[in-house]
Amino acid sequence: MKQYNIAIEGLDNGSFQQQGCDTVLRAALRAGIGFPYECNSGGCGSCKYEVVSGEVENLWPEAPAVTERDRRKGRLLACQCRATSDLVIRMRPQPEAVPVIAPRRMPARLLEVREVTHDLREFRFGTETPASFLPGQYAMFALPGVSSPRAYSMSNTASGGREWHVQVRRVPNGKATEVLFEKLRPGDELEIDGPYGLAYLREDAPRDIVCVAGGSGLAPMVSIARGASQAGLLKDRHLHFFYGARTPRDVCGESFLRELPEFGERIHYHPVVSMPGEGENAWRGETGFVHELLRRRMAERMSECEFYFAGPPPMTNALQEMLMLEHRVPFAQIHFDRFF
Ligand code: FES
Repeated sequence: MKQYNIAIEGLDNGSFQQQGCDTVLRAALRAGIGFPYECNSGGCGSCKYEVVSGEVENLWPEAPAVTERDRRKGRLLACQCRATSDLVIRMRPQPEAVPVIAPRRMPARLLEVREVTHDLREFRFGTETPASFLPGQYAMFALPGVSSPRAYSMSNTASGGREWHVQVRRVPNGKATEVLFEKLRPGDELEIDGPYGLAYLREDAPRDIVCVAGGSGLAPMVSIARGASQAGLLKDRHLHFFYGARTPRDVCGESFLRELPEFGERIHYHPVVSMPGEGENAWRGETGFVHELLRRRMAERMSECEFYFAGPPPMTNALQEMLMLEHRVPFAQIHFDRFF
């Protein structure tokens, strides 16, 4: 297995090894370096860095997070680069990005598949070694026949078990979803690499918790709610769970929350639909976008809460803007990983 040494310019103890097919980012995180990142998939742009000396293979030169300006300045994405020689790189490690649990690769087997909605399924994987991740984190799944690994958030909690549950929405013509929905069968093997992600449950934050999910962002928010319940955090605080769906048949999440003993008392579910439909099957509850419902329900209490959210970029952008600019919620109380 090829191995390269990567040194961070200007840092005496800032060198690490890249082995096998790792990217520069994953190798850094495995070594406990606080390399800034969010999506691990070329979309967010948080992992930009520069090569001072040495050679890299760029796995996705057209990645959407790289601008023309970045190209002119020689900036690359660490999540899309592999060293092909020893390297010296320029980047600034951040203490908040140091992994709480070092990610590792492990073989996994599909155990079972469950329907969540008409187009959302939960896939449950098992590993030989104990599952190790925090509520709200994700892992990279190397699916057979799909060239690059996919990032999926876990909906369960590790809690001493060996299972990794992820929820995936079927994407028309999506390669990865075709493999998951049509080809993979219980017993089939693949590789999981994780955990990753910085939007994990902060057990030491003393505030009420607000989870906001849209689309397939349901899984990490369910994991946060489960984690908060298991850690006993809801004995003295409330958890508000907002779910934004496009149509009535996309609404989901309540059944997972109902399993938790605090449901109805300290866990409150707030669904909202942006396309309510008409006639007999029309949605009779709240309508509009999820950040608008959050504003209506929580306006005066925003700055007293800890926020977690996951969903499509327009949703996460609207939420971030509203919380920080309108309601002055400190950035340290807002947790999300951007996926595109
Ligand atoms: Fe690399 Fe998002 S683009 S972490």
